[in-house]
Amino acid sequence: MDHFLYRDGALFAEDVPVSEIAAAVGTPFYVYSTATLLRHFQLFDDALDGTDHLVCYAMKAASNQAILKTLAQAGAGMDVVSGGEYLRAKAAGVSGDKIVFSGVGKTADEIRAALTGGIRQFNVESEPEMEVINAVALELGTVAPITVRVNPDVDAKTHAKIATGKSENKFGIPIARASEVYAHAASLPGLEVIGIDVHIGSQLTELEPFELAYTKVAELTEQLRAEGHNIRRLDLGGGLGIPYTRSNDAPPLPMEYGALIKKTLGHLGCEIEIEPGRLIAGNAGLMVSKVIYVKSGEGRDFLIVDGAMNDLIRPAMYEAHHDIVAVQEPAAGVEQQAYDIVGPVCESGDTFAKQRNMPPLKSGDLIAFRSAGAYGAVMASEYNTRPLIPEVLVNGDQFAVIRERPSFDEIINRDTIPSWL
Ligand code: LLP
Repeated sequence: MDHFLYRDGALFAEDVPVSEIAAAVGTPFYVYSTATLLRHFQLFDDALDGTDHLVCYAMKAASNQAILKTLAQAGAGMDVVSGGEYLRAKAAGVSGDKIVFSGVGKTADEIRAALTGGIRQFNVESEPEMEVINAVALELGTVAPITVRVNPDVDAKTHAKIATGKSENKFGIPIARASEVYAHAASLPGLEVIGIDVHIGSQLTELEPFELAYTKVAELTEQLRAEGHNIRRLDLGGGLGIPYTRSNDAPPLPMEYGALIKKTLGHLGCEIEIEPGRLIAGNAGLMVSKVIYVKSGEGRDFLIVDGAMNDLIRPAMYEAHHDIVAVQEPAAGVEQQAYDIVGPVCESGDTFAKQRNMPPLKSGDLIAFRSAGAYGAVMASEYNTRPLIPEVLVNGDQFAVIRERPSFDEIINRDTIPSWL
């Protein structure tokens, strides 16, 4: 459920007409709903009710500080994957003891920044990384809390580019080697081993892969405890999928996911962390764009819109489907027409949808890409010297620009010309 609904023939973001935002900020832009963000966070928090837990929002999904602050004020922790994300979370007012640091290649500088500024735990991805965390902690005269990310060799049954839990993926240490790696970690005086971390992929639409992975984590917890490790925290990653279409796919609900966590791991008495990103932000955001031209091609009509692959790359990168709706609600019974919906970038890959049924549209009409709140704005680029598009946050009947559209001067002046030119 989200808060982008038609009222009296016009698409609203909560209590604000989308067309009013477009008039104020220009197109294209991203708009997020505070109520949807909070609702989705709350679903996870409620799903783990009765268990000692922290929902650490995977801020890679949408990392504007206004979003982070909204969620942090509701009690969320953060999952960060780079020094930049760590600093951004801190800048948004999140305290270090609610930030977990994931990511495959943390550098000594990133580790130093986090140990200095405060960190809940590092999710260690390899033995060389473990050695560096140990060395930096000793250099700073401190002890780094860690979990080790194990790779359970489970098929997440999702798009290959976002599956992370198979042995051929670059993530974590093979679960079969956990015993050895934990013994190594325990021997390093700069580390305190507190738990286990696992994350098997993103946009999972079934519970079974989670069940397989979490069952393996439960067995590993008992084994490591028997080997003398005080395993007291389990970080279960993110990955629960969202419905990208209104009709057919209905992934499991957070409540069912929470029940599975309790069933597979509840008996261990561990503190539980989860790292959802997409489910919190995905359906809390739209990308709004304007039709520039309607062009008749060979046997097909193209809607050429002012948003492009650089603004929302998911269709080009993962063949992802986003529902696209007209901002002005089509009159009842209006005959739909199939369009190829494309951006202005000079690549055929700059295609959002092929032969998509839409109401008849004309130049100047607004359309909205649904489910664009996660991995939308954060994956945008300035390809074709197209400015990063603004982000807007709605809260009830108020809205605010939370990231401005840069001017062309700002973009162009970022280049510096060497002295020999
Ligand atoms: N934790 C870790 C360690 C992760 O690598 C990820 C996502 C998450 C949590 C959050 O997963 P989520 O709940 O959002 O599924 N750009 C892709 C998605 C990449 C996901 C990367 N890792 C897309 O647009 O589909």
